[in-house]
Amino acid sequence: MTAESAAAPEPEVLAAFEAAKGFMPLREGLALYAAASDAAALGLPLLEVGTYCGRSTILLAAAARAAGVTALTVDHHRGSEEQQPGWEYHDPSVVDPEVGLMDTLPAFRRTLFAAGLEEHVVALVGRSPQVAAVWGGQLGFVFIDGGHTDEHAGGDYEGWAPKVAEGGLLVIHDVFPDPADGGQAPYRVHQRALESGAFTEIAVTDSLRVLRRTGTGV
Ligand SMILES: C[S@@+](CC[C@H](N)C(=O)[O-])C[C@H]1O[C@@H](n2cnc3c(N)ncnc32)[C@H](O)[C@@H]1O
Repeated sequence: MTAESAAAPEPEVLAAFEAAKGFMPLREGLALYAAASDAAALGLPLLEVGTYCGRSTILLAAAARAAGVTALTVDHHRGSEEQQPGWEYHDPSVVDPEVGLMDTLPAFRRTLFAAGLEEHVVALVGRSPQVAAVWGGQLGFVFIDGGHTDEHAGGDYEGWAPKVAEGGLLVIHDVFPDPADGGQAPYRVHQRALESGAFTEIAVTDSLRVLRRTGTGV
């Protein structure tokens, strides 16, 4: 996959992505779509950890639609640590007033409906390690963008990286080698993946890292 040959989303997919609430910048989104399209050619499902309101899911869904596969997206929809009230990324509009907790599931469903991509996505509502424990199949693509603590990012890696098929892709968001740029848990997961010998890095776009499974070991 080179920049010249990379697949690009259709204009209406891009418009839906840009209109959606979420945390994925455009440059990284384009790289995510290109990676998902590359991996979808394997004919296996694409999986994301960290749905939030569906911004990045739109891109996986569009890549899945083009290849005739399914996108899976995992989230408990109660938000990460940094999205809770009083923290930097909190959005009061996604709090369920009845239970007093975050619930991003309704916003996610609206996002997918507006993008016309509902039928290409299976939403898995639950904790990532718990869902990974009951998912027995192989995956063509795993995108890790869930909790950003060592416990959660490490759990995502341990639960899902072993399920990436030979030739499939492991994509990690918010990889910051310099602690001055951001939290280190995704970077530590990235290092673990490379040190395992099972993955080879094939693309870097800002904080988004794309690794291909080229061996065994996880
Ligand atoms: C950074 S947001 C995802 C952003 C999204 N990919 C986007 O592009 O806008 C992280 C999400 O991971 C979810 N999350 C955090 N830890 C989780 C866990 N252990 N299991 C499932 N979901 C988790 C949170 O609820 C939150 O919605």
